[in-house]
Amino acid sequence: QTIYLKDYRPFGYYLDDVHLTFRLAASATRVVSRISVRPNVDFPGEFFLHGQDVKLIWAKIDGADVTPVVSADGLTCDAPDGPFVWEAEVEISPATNTALEGLYMSNGVYCTQCEAEGFRKITFYPDRPDVMSVFCVRIEGELPVLLSNGNPTSHGDGWAEWLDPWPKPAYLFALVAGDLVAHSDGFTTMSGKDVALNIYVRPGPDEAKCAFGMGALKRSMKWDEDVYGREYDLDIFNIVAVDDFNMGAMENKGLNIFNSSCVLASPETSTDSNFERIEAIIAHEYFHNWTGNRITCRDWFQLCLKEGLTVFRDQQYTGDQGSHAVKRIEDAITLRSRQFREDNGPLAHPVRPESFIEINNFYTITVYEKGAELIGMLKRLVGDDAYRKALDLYFTRHDGDAATIEDWLQVFEDTTGRDLTQFKRWYSQAGTPRVTVTDDFKDGVYALHFEQQTPPTPGQDSKSAQVIPIAVGLLSQDGTEVQPTTVLEMTATTQSFAFNGLAEKPVPSLLRDFSAPVILQRDQTNVERAFLMTHDTDPFNKWDAGDALAKDVLTKSITENTAPDAAYLDGITAILRNDALDPAFRALCLSLPSEDDMAKALHDAGTVPDPLAIHHAIEALKLTTAQHVQDILPRIQADMIVDGPYSPDAKNAGKRSLANSVLGLLSRLDDGAAAAKQYADADNMTMQLAGLAALLRISKGEDQSAAFRDQWRADRLVMDKWFGLTVSLAAPDLAADTALRLTQEPDFDMKNPNRFRAVFGALAGHSAGFHAPSGVSYRLLGDWLAKLDAINPQTTARMTTAFETWRRYDVGRQDQMRDVLETLAKTAGLSRDTGEMVGRMLGNH
Ligand code: ARG
Ligand code: ZN
Repeated sequence: QTIYLKDYRPFGYYLDDVHLTFRLAASATRVVSRISVRPNVDFPGEFFLHGQDVKLIWAKIDGADVTPVVSADGLTCDAPDGPFVWEAEVEISPATNTALEGLYMSNGVYCTQCEAEGFRKITFYPDRPDVMSVFCVRIEGELPVLLSNGNPTSHGDGWAEWLDPWPKPAYLFALVAGDLVAHSDGFTTMSGKDVALNIYVRPGPDEAKCAFGMGALKRSMKWDEDVYGREYDLDIFNIVAVDDFNMGAMENKGLNIFNSSCVLASPETSTDSNFERIEAIIAHEYFHNWTGNRITCRDWFQLCLKEGLTVFRDQQYTGDQGSHAVKRIEDAITLRSRQFREDNGPLAHPVRPESFIEINNFYTITVYEKGAELIGMLKRLVGDDAYRKALDLYFTRHDGDAATIEDWLQVFEDTTGRDLTQFKRWYSQAGTPRVTVTDDFKDGVYALHFEQQTPPTPGQDSKSAQVIPIAVGLLSQDGTEVQPTTVLEMTATTQSFAFNGLAEKPVPSLLRDFSAPVILQRDQTNVERAFLMTHDTDPFNKWDAGDALAKDVLTKSITENTAPDAAYLDGITAILRNDALDPAFRALCLSLPSEDDMAKALHDAGTVPDPLAIHHAIEALKLTTAQHVQDILPRIQADMIVDGPYSPDAKNAGKRSLANSVLGLLSRLDDGAAAAKQYADADNMTMQLAGLAALLRISKGEDQSAAFRDQWRADRLVMDKWFGLTVSLAAPDLAADTALRLTQEPDFDMKNPNRFRAVFGALAGHSAGFHAPSGVSYRLLGDWLAKLDAINPQTTARMTTAFETWRRYDVGRQDQMRDVLETLAKTAGLSRDTGEMVGRMLGNH
C-alpha cells in the first residue's frame, strides 16, 4: 500500500535504551532485545513493532510473558500506561538471506544493511527514523572479529560488547562478525582526541588494497573539521568491506559497511576513476556522521535532507582535492544524462516525494544528485558566508534531531532573513524546468529575456514558477569579458534583465558553472558555440559550448546525413592544442555525448531516435575527428606520459585521461597498434584497461581479452570490469548473445549484485545493443530480472529503470518493451519493490 507524507504521525512511545544480544548461527541466529519504553503522552498510539521474516520465540513486558498479535509486517501488544520494559527473543536466518537486507552473510562474514527498513528483519522494533535510542549490543559467536556501533566496552572469548552513546534510529544499526583483519591507523581530532581507525577485510589479497581508502578517510576527517567545523565523536571508526552489497556503502554509526568495489583499491587493480569514486564515497559516508547521523531524518520523505546535503559536501570535497571545474563538469554530465532522463520519464518524482510504496525505490539520482543541486543553488543565492552561518545554526539547533526540510530551510531564513517559500518549490515540484532565452541590444543596453516552463510529470499537471539562479557573464565580440559572472535571480515565469553601457552587442555566457539544474533553450549558431568554446572564461560553459556543438553535429549527421561542421573540428583541435588547459579538462572536451544522451536529444527535438544510427554517427564522428587531429596526437601522447610510480592524484590521473582519449582516436587510425602496445606495457589498471577497451572498441583485442581474464581470474573486482567491458564493447548485434554467454561462465553469480550489474547493467547501458530491433536484449534482461527478483528485490527494482525510456522509441520497440514490463508485472510472487517500479513505468500508479 501507499505511504503518504501528509499522514506523518509521531510514534506513541519513546525508547530510552536498547539492549541487544546476538547469538550468531548461520541459519538460526537468536536475537534477544530488552528495551526501556515510555509512552509519548502527546501522541498516544498503539504499541506496534515492525517485524518481517523474524520468528518470535517469546516476549515479555516487565518480566511477565505476553502474547502479541503477530502479522506479516509486525506485532502489536497491549502495553501498560506508564514506562515498561519490553523483552523478546527472535530467530532469523542470515545464511539464506539473499535479499542482502537485515542480517546476512557475505563470503562467510556476518554483516547488516538496515537502511531504510532492514532492521525489522533483525528483530521486532519501531523501525522508523524518528525513533532514536542508545544501543548496547552484545555479540556471541566463535569468530575472531565481532563489531557493532559506537565504542567497544568489553570482550572475551567468543563475545564482545559495544555501546553507542549517541541516540540513533535503527537504520544506522550495524553488526559485523567474521574472520577479518584490520588495516589500522589513527587520527587526532581538532580538539586533540585520538580516534582509532580500521578498515576490515578478509585475510588475503584484499589486505593490500586498504591503504588508499585509509588515506581518504583521514583526508575526509580533516576536511570536515576545516570546512564545516565538524569533529568526529567516538573513540573508534571502523569500515568493513563486503563483496555482496546492494548499494555503494552505508554510514552506520562508527561502523561503515562498504561494497568492496567502493573501498578497496590498488594501482594494479583499480582505475583512476575507481580511485576518484572510492575517495568520494569514503568521504560521503564519513560526512554522514554529521549530516545523517547526528542530525537524521524525521521520516523517509525527508531522505534528501541527509543525502542531498551529503552529496553536496562530497562534491565540494572532491573539487578541493583536484579541480572544481572538472568535478563540476563531471557532475553536470551525470545529472543531465541520468537525472534529466528520470525527470522526463514515468519515474519522475520530486526531490522530496509525497508518497511511496517501497522507500528503497526512492534512493534515486533525483533525491541524491538533484537534491545536491538544490543545496548548491541555495549557497549561490545566499553567498558563501551566509551558507556557512546557516550550516552552523543547523548543526547547533538540530543536533540530535530527526529533522525535516522545513527545519533545513528555516535555518537559512533565520540567518539571512530571506523568504524561501518559493525556493521550497524545488523540493515539491518534479520535472526539469526549461528556460527559453532571447536577447536584444539597443542604445548600449543589452537585455536578456527569460521564460521558464516545467512540463507535467506523473501526478503533477501544472507547475508554478521556481527561483532560478542564472549565473551570467558577457563577452565582447573580440573575446574579452566585459561583464564578469553575476547571478541573476529569476523568480517569475517571464523576466528580463538589462546590462547598460555596452559599446556593442555582447556574446552572453549563460548558466555559468551550471548554476541551476535546468535546460536552457536558445537559438545559437555553431559559430557562437565555437566562439564560446575558444573564449569563455567559465570552464563549465567552455566545455558546454563544445558539447552543444557536438550534439548539433551528431543530430545533423543522423537526421540530414551532413558532414561535421568545421566549427566543431577546428574548436576541438584548438582545445587539444592548448597546453595551458588542464589535461583532464581537455579529455572531457574530447569525449562525445553518450548514445543515450543523443537519443534523449533527438527525442526532445521531436525525432524518434534510432539507437543504431546514433551508434554509427558517434563512431563516424570519432573517426573524422581522429583524421582531423591526426598530426598532433603523437605529440600529446608523448606529453601525457606520466613518469615515476603510479599515483592516483588528480594531476596524474588527468594526464592519463587525456592520453587515453587520444589513444581512443589513434586506435581508429593505426588499427589498434598503439593500444596493443599500451596494453602490453601497462603497469597499472588505468592504462591496461584503456588499452583493452580501445582494442575491443574497434572489434579487436580477442587475445588481450583472454589474457586479461587469465591474469585476473582470482580478483573479483577486476573480473567485474572484464564482464562489464566484454558486454559494453560487444558489437550492437552481439550484445545480447554476449551477455547470455557470460551468464554461463563459471564465474557468473547472480547472487552477487556487482557481478549481476557488471553483465546486465552493461547490457542496459549499451544503447545500440539493448535496443536491438529484434527485442532480444529486452527479453533477456526481463527474464533475468524476473529470476533475480525472487532472491534480491532491491537490486532487481533498481535495474528495471533500463526500461524507463520506453516511450521514447518507435512503436515496434515500444511494444516489445511494454511486453517485457507487462510480463514482469504478471510474474507470480513479484516483490513490492519491482511491482512498484514496473507499475509506475507502465503508468498504472
Ligand atoms: N545511505 C546510504 C548512502 O547514501 C545508502 C543506503 C541505501 N540503501 C538502500 N537500501 N536503499 O550512503
Ligand atoms: Zn548517503
